[in-house]
Amino acid sequence: MKSKRVKIISLLLLLGFSGALYIGCNLRSSSYQEIDYVIGVSQANMREPWRLVLMNELNEEISKHSNIRLITTDATSNSEKQKKDVKKLLDYGIDLLIVSPSDVKEMTPVISEVYDQIPVIVMDKAVEGFDYTLFIGPDNKLIGRQAGEDIIKHLGKDKGAILELCGSQLSQASKDKSSGFESIISKYPNVHIKRVRVESELRDEAEDMVLSMGEQLKDIDIIFAHNDYMALGAYNAINKLGYDIKIVGIDGFNGENDGINLVKQGKIDATIACSTGGKEAIQYAVDILNKVSGVPKQVILRCHSVNQKNVTAYVENQNKPRNEYKEIIDVGYSQLGSESAWRLANTRSIKEAAKDLGINLIYEDADQSQEKQIAAIRKFIDMKVDVIVISPVVDNGWNEILQEAKDAGIPVLLSDRKVEVEDDSLYSTYIGADFIEEGRRAMRWIKENVPAEEEAVNILEIQGTLEASPTVERKQGFEEILNNNSGYEIVYSKGGDYTYAGGKEVIEEYMKTHEWDIDAIFAHNDDMALGAIKALEAYEIEPGKDVKIVSVDGTRKAFEAMIEGKLNCVVECSPLLGPQLMKAIQDLMDGKELPLRIITDEKIYTQDEAKDVLSSRKY
Ligand code: AHR
Repeated sequence: MKSKRVKIISLLLLLGFSGALYIGCNLRSSSYQEIDYVIGVSQANMREPWRLVLMNELNEEISKHSNIRLITTDATSNSEKQKKDVKKLLDYGIDLLIVSPSDVKEMTPVISEVYDQIPVIVMDKAVEGFDYTLFIGPDNKLIGRQAGEDIIKHLGKDKGAILELCGSQLSQASKDKSSGFESIISKYPNVHIKRVRVESELRDEAEDMVLSMGEQLKDIDIIFAHNDYMALGAYNAINKLGYDIKIVGIDGFNGENDGINLVKQGKIDATIACSTGGKEAIQYAVDILNKVSGVPKQVILRCHSVNQKNVTAYVENQNKPRNEYKEIIDVGYSQLGSESAWRLANTRSIKEAAKDLGINLIYEDADQSQEKQIAAIRKFIDMKVDVIVISPVVDNGWNEILQEAKDAGIPVLLSDRKVEVEDDSLYSTYIGADFIEEGRRAMRWIKENVPAEEEAVNILEIQGTLEASPTVERKQGFEEILNNNSGYEIVYSKGGDYTYAGGKEVIEEYMKTHEWDIDAIFAHNDDMALGAIKALEAYEIEPGKDVKIVSVDGTRKAFEAMIEGKLNCVVECSPLLGPQLMKAIQDLMDGKELPLRIITDEKIYTQDEAKDVLSSRKY
């Protein structure tokens, strides 16, 4: 049970604490308050309008919790000041820190130190590494790509000139928007981008910048601004100069001079609307403070392309009343199969969580067949279930069936594995792991523990099911680190379908045609690593000693193999997705929009810790 703590806050004391300290609105009425928790918010600056919207969201959501107070500091875009702000907040005794870093590099070590003491929610820009409790923010590269695709449609031809109004050169968000945008536009050799930077990212500076371009504007077909304030500045400028140029912005907030209204009024043609995540930050902060289990590691917010054709529908959808209360929610769930210990734990977790919450789960096992999964989804559509969940066996080939579900008005959630679709509005959210990071972690371990000396380190890779997202992405992350380190080479790579038998066969095949020359094995899951261990032993090669083995998942059997010294390292991938999945389903049924991706928290384990950790493993 949560231990109730009473804090007496003196308003005078707080006001004397720092000139740039703001106290949540629910504290103003009285000098003395009984509270359970204090959340510190270290804001990079209060100058960008986007951050003011974020602050409003944080304050609005915190006002629903009379036992929690918010203290906010403004770093005025100065990292040295932000470091001091964070220290002051800690000295004050905050229970949780929400931080939006002004400079990721500068703030990473500070945030990491705070994370040793209290939970930290990082907003907007991810710091380096994973020393935080939760990251909430948009995927700015994706926003850039979305804008690029929209702009190509707005151009209506495969040639033209774009004026890109970028934000501050210090802003990682702006850099990411540009690189995502470029990745789309570069596919069209006759479409050119002219980039200018508006350091302040504000409307009037953007207006001055565009005004100063004068005659050059006559060659521009479309303006892409990194926020709607700059988009409005651009509109004011071209209006004064008498040019007719299309404009696309980013943010899509709802205020009078914000993106949605600008689209409605025809001042800009489109905006990429994305929430600030303020509301979600407080909701997760409350869960963290109350020690609710299953808080994810990353929440990536969903963005929408809003243009003059769909703006009315978008607004209606945002304001739609909560769904009718349904006592029992019917969920059709297509699980891909039962190939591994991980999968069995995953199925168990989902079934148990549904049962705990009284959700009616209609379960279908596809036995590794995409055809069976598609048939199951069609059956769920015919049954008119409330929600469909799929763990897709492979990435591709889902456009048509997901469109059928969308046309039937049934939301689809992706659990564990991803899909490659043309339109990401075909699914509501993805809940699962960061497979790329898992691959990186595996290779980092090899790099640190199997040093490359005179001869190259030979690596044998046992991939999972080919064309499945964990396989593709683990390989991608692994190779990313490998390619940055000379002296390491993948000399053999085969798929083992995530099964014990598959892992064993890969080694047996290798032995038939090669002299043993492998230094390290990267198995994409534990079952395949265990199968490989069995095969190696038959050839009298000592697993864990003659060859180092790293695998992914973190099953009990893998921990036992580490204790026996046969497996060297395990990169965790949690199958316990049931509680988060069911929470997302309930949120969806309550009319909430789900984030684009909800990423689980995972660790890495080695032989040293295996014994201590084994008893607490849940799968
Ligand atoms: O999709 C997750 C992967 O699928 C797990 O790593 C593997 O064990 C499973 O079968």
